[in-house]
Amino acid sequence: DLILHNGEFIQEENLVISKEDRGYQFGDGIYEVIRVYDGSLFTAKEHIDRFYDSADKIKIVIPYTKDVFHKMMYDFVEVNKIDMGYVYVQITRGAAERQHQFPTQATPVITGNTKSVARPVASLESGVTAKFIEDIRWLRCDIKSLNLLGNVLAKQEAYEEGFFEAILHRGETVTEGSSSNMYGLKNGMLYTHPATNLILNGITRRVILELCKELEIPVEETAFTKTQALQMDEFFMSSTTSEVMPIIAIGDQKIGQGVPGELTRKLQTAFQARIQ
Ligand code: PDD
Repeated sequence: DLILHNGEFIQEENLVISKEDRGYQFGDGIYEVIRVYDGSLFTAKEHIDRFYDSADKIKIVIPYTKDVFHKMMYDFVEVNKIDMGYVYVQITRGAAERQHQFPTQATPVITGNTKSVARPVASLESGVTAKFIEDIRWLRCDIKSLNLLGNVLAKQEAYEEGFFEAILHRGETVTEGSSSNMYGLKNGMLYTHPATNLILNGITRRVILELCKELEIPVEETAFTKTQALQMDEFFMSSTTSEVMPIIAIGDQKIGQGVPGELTRKLQTAFQARIQ
């Protein structure tokens, strides 16, 4: 497969990245992951808007109009003949002699790749388990930053103990997952952390909130505590790659009956209808 480098599709062995690229040295950049279903980019506009918003928040100027960038993503999927998979794309502030402040002369560097990957149908059916881990990240989690150490350390701890995801919390308050958003359902009401600086406002999250409207599931964008999480009737997470993923236990404690809940199933069905 070809990779993306500054607007061109090239062979990976021809890629040259400076050792002083600020993405490499500082994590000074942002990224997106866009799902491809049946050869089409899903919610491409929303992902592209967020890519530009994240860049803007860290003062990186993307050297293309959104339309040109969208066409680039479209062509990328075409050239690599991706049917089911995703596109990963990132932009860094570019290469310059190492000093913390922005370089006066640096050209942003865009790289990306595609990957063919099936939907996680087995986990979507059975549900997964997760573990509470303290959210030690910075206070701008709304930016889809390349700096993912807080997320990486949390996911690793969960993974080593056999859990699929880390449920991050600041003190008692649940924020989101290490690479997903979190939701609880109690007495027919859906609860999820509001889209503040403490979470990434997931594109899948926005689709789910729309689906709740259609299905007349009332929504409270209100943070809930760890204790409340454990008392939910149903619990699930969402992301571009995990879709609507049931969480059937947190730590060693079952949620509800310890199987995917009824409203979670309804949302999964509605989500599946959207992607077809
Ligand atoms: N992660 N919160 C965090 C911290 C994330 O990293 C992600 C996505 C989400 C869900 O966002 P979306 O629904 O737009 O994918 C929430 C991507 C998939 C990743 O890093 O691979």
